[in-house]
Amino acid sequence: MTIKHVAMALAWLTVASSAGASVDTESVRRGAYLARVSDCIACHSTENGKPNAGGLAMDTPVGKIYSTNITPDKETGIGNYRYEEFARALRDGVAREGHTLYPAMPYPSFAKINDRDMHDLYAYFMNGVEPVRQPNRDSDIVWPLSMRWPLTLWRWLFHDASPYQPVANQSTQWNRGAYLVQGMAHCGTCHTPRGVGFQEVALSEKASGYLTGNNLEGWFAGNLTADPREGLGSWSADDLVEYLQNGRNRYTAAFGPMAEVVHFSTQHVSRDDLAAMAVYIKSLPAAGAAQVAPVRTGAALFFENCATCHQAKGEGHDSVVPALAGSSAVMARDPASLIRIVLEGGINARTRHQAWEYSMPGYAGQLNDKEVADVLTYMRQSWGNVASEVTAGDVAKVRAALPKVAGK
Ligand code: HEC
Ligand code: HEC
Ligand code: HEC
Repeated sequence: MTIKHVAMALAWLTVASSAGASVDTESVRRGAYLARVSDCIACHSTENGKPNAGGLAMDTPVGKIYSTNITPDKETGIGNYRYEEFARALRDGVAREGHTLYPAMPYPSFAKINDRDMHDLYAYFMNGVEPVRQPNRDSDIVWPLSMRWPLTLWRWLFHDASPYQPVANQSTQWNRGAYLVQGMAHCGTCHTPRGVGFQEVALSEKASGYLTGNNLEGWFAGNLTADPREGLGSWSADDLVEYLQNGRNRYTAAFGPMAEVVHFSTQHVSRDDLAAMAVYIKSLPAAGAAQVAPVRTGAALFFENCATCHQAKGEGHDSVVPALAGSSAVMARDPASLIRIVLEGGINARTRHQAWEYSMPGYAGQLNDKEVADVLTYMRQSWGNVASEVTAGDVAKVRAALPKVAGK
């Protein structure tokens, strides 16, 4: 920092600390733009509700949670948040009251936001958003899964709160793009595969798997690397800018969750910022799911996909999630129903609007025949279970007989 920078920083602080008296309208204006880039409104509003007043249901592996009211209402919103508390919620995932937030709030990405942008966001939410009185809704998750302390553990295990570090041998434009894509725009929240604990396997291009594609419930957010087959290998940077700005280009049109991202966020992002994002994304070397997860054994597949609910030793959660250890269903002579439930999930799983805390997601789009066979064989031959092996051929037969689901 030069003397000039220090002086500027001090001048800035003076403005910020006297915010009660005079609002820094320039900061509020910048914050409004940054809130668009971050798409706060998409998660913190319901379809017919007031903007930013919260209440949107979001599925987690254990049940539904609801986003909160982030308007400056003092009783039901974040009107009492001081700047430090706001920054802590966004970067560390800790609410003002001290509880850890579900990572459905993308704080693993927002941790990259720099101080100036964080101040502008705060200025906007305190002064540019209309306060709305609307109490928050409790989650529908049943005890004991509803306990928040495991979230603290999750945060210790998986959260890296370090801010964005510019990469020295890259251009200013590339760094601007990387900062936006990894941080505020949180593209990886949907486009990066999840690991054992549902954490994103990578938060930047420095680790493998970043933006290589991820299955959301019922949607596949594609591979954004240069992979020529399933990635953006053939797209130019301009194609990508056009897509983010208009929701379509010569290759494709955005649909589902991506159409919402374009609608609420990227269409409002400046052309310079979109161009920077495109330059960064186009620099990602080709990497596909195959390179990320080479040989996955049944045990690894079980831990990655099933253990959160069925527990590490298949013991289940009484009356909520069935036990797999010692289960006659699991050791059945004919594994057809097991294959079917893993492919299709429990009864409620397919519709987005039903509570699914007692149901199981389907894995038809996520696991191939060999993987389903391996995880089932593991289940049938672990924790004291004794039953025959399941083969990829068994799975293929059941899969072929499934009723076709729209969009798959
Ligand atoms: C992908 C969805 C998503 C996006 C995008 C998102 N949030 Fe959240 N946020 C949530 C959810 C869900 C919660 C509640 C988590 C919980 O209760 O554990 C939350 C909680 C919060 C909280 C703390 C809870 C409270 O109200 O006291 C704050 C503050 C917050 N968000 C601000 C923001 C801001 C500012 C942005 C944009 C920069 C933003 N969020 C973007 C989903 C999101
Ligand atoms: C809320 C989840 C979500 C977020 C956040 C998100 N995407 Fe997507 N994206 C999707 C889904 C789902 C698809 C697949 C549907 C489609 O192609 O429209 C997709 C598709 C795309 C495609 C088309 C890929 C292809 O091969 O056709 C591009 C490009 C893209 N996203 C870029 C981005 C960028 C850049 C960001 C960050 C600014 C981003 N996405 C953020 C969910 C998301
Ligand atoms: C989100 C929590 C959740 C996840 C993740 C999950 N399950 Fe389930 N599983 C359930 C619930 C709940 C049921 C009961 C479903 C029903 O009857 O609709 C169930 C039922 C089953 C059954 C039938 C057992 C019986 O006795 O009825 C099998 C087998 C099974 N799951 C295997 C798996 C496998 C293998 C995976 C990973 C690929 C997995 N589950 C992932 C929650 C989950």
